[in-house]
Amino acid sequence: MMKKLVILLAFASITAVASMALAGAAPKTGVKGCCHDVNVAAGGTYKADQFQRVCAFCHTPHNELSSGLARLPQWNHAQSTVTLVPYVWASPANAGIAINADPLIGPSRLCMCCHDGVTAVDSHGSAGSFNGGNTSLTPHYTDALGKTVKRYITDLTVTHPIGFKYADALAVRNVGTDTELVLPTNGYIADNQLVGVTFNTNSRGSLTYSSKKIKDTLYNGYMTCASCHNVHNSVNAVPAASTVAAGNSYNYFLYAQEEGSAICLSCHIK
Ligand code: HEC
Ligand code: HEC
Ligand code: HEC
Ligand code: HEC
Repeated sequence: MMKKLVILLAFASITAVASMALAGAAPKTGVKGCCHDVNVAAGGTYKADQFQRVCAFCHTPHNELSSGLARLPQWNHAQSTVTLVPYVWASPANAGIAINADPLIGPSRLCMCCHDGVTAVDSHGSAGSFNGGNTSLTPHYTDALGKTVKRYITDLTVTHPIGFKYADALAVRNVGTDTELVLPTNGYIADNQLVGVTFNTNSRGSLTYSSKKIKDTLYNGYMTCASCHNVHNSVNAVPAASTVAAGNSYNYFLYAQEEGSAICLSCHIK
């Protein structure tokens, strides 16, 4: 009986490791070796940098490619030129929240330099001296849960709203004592806070929060892709051990866990 249990446990950890492998490097282990390391992403689908540099696919110390983009951190990757129709608010209360003329304002446009599905993922460098490739993002992949999903975004009307000011949302959502949004000075809900516990929104005060604040992830106050995702795989959430053991590993570079919808409840008081 004991032996069977040991074998079962061993099997469970093998499957957990296998699904971790699908998800790329473990969360919080940095950008090298994770799927944002283009040298190794998607099992070597893309052309590697000749020095195996990791940062170079996105950043350069000199001669950044700034034209056409707002000056953003030492950008070194071919630019995305897609224009996408912005999100349309579903709830009448949100109707007054303006979405910027470019809904991809800030880091969102940097994400789209690869995640538009058109621009070459492995194209980088401003001097033309690097052997960049011309492969765009793999259309579909098997995610950490074994499901086929796409990693490119071509329609903002079906993705969580971005490109609006968090402060504008606070103005319509936090009126008087009616508080529906977390203040941006707050951190994200820390790992395992909503796992196996009874939670109601009044017990928020007793939770622990990450030192990364919501305001730190806003670009000039705007909500972007980088308000939920940590591109460097450095301060993101680690999935709860219980769900990993059940074969549900993931690494979506999220600032808070999927478990208990901690990522959503980090901003929404629902
Ligand atoms: C896949 C693209 C990508 C790679 C690879 C990457 N970065 Fe970034 N980096 C970004 C984006 C996008 C931003 C802006 C988004 C944000 O601030 O959240 C950024 C912002 C930064 C910043 C500004 C401060 C911050 O954290 O926002 C620093 C510093 C930085 N990166 C350093 C690095 C270093 C060092 C490496 C390599 C070890 C690296 N990055 C690899 C995309 C990348
Ligand atoms: C240099 C290209 C590049 C840039 C810039 C980039 N990504 Fe990625 N991203 C990739 C690649 C490559 C993959 C892995 C896809 C594959 O397997 O083909 C990926 C995967 C992901 C995943 C999926 C993780 C998983 O395991 O399912 C998320 C989430 C993600 N990126 C978010 C972002 C966000 C948000 C930004 C901007 C802040 C961004 N990326 C910028 C290239 C990029
Ligand atoms: C409100 C938070 C939020 C915002 C904003 C957001 N994402 Fe995500 N994203 C998630 C979550 C949560 C997942 C995990 C999958 C799920 O729960 O369905 C995810 C998954 C992904 C994936 C993995 C593939 C998939 O569909 O599962 C990619 C790639 C990705 N996001 C890129 C982006 C890009 C690029 C942007 C900006 C255009 C963006 N995300 C904006 C929360 C967000
Ligand atoms: C970084 C903060 C942040 C995170 C994380 C976040 N949201 Fe939001 N979300 C907002 C803001 C701000 C609004 C606009 C005000 C509102 O509707 O409360 C919004 C709007 C929405 C809307 C209303 C859209 C409409 O058309 O009226 C829904 C639904 C929603 N979010 C669901 C989610 C879910 C589900 C998650 C987790 C996957 C999530 N959000 C994560 C900040 C966030």
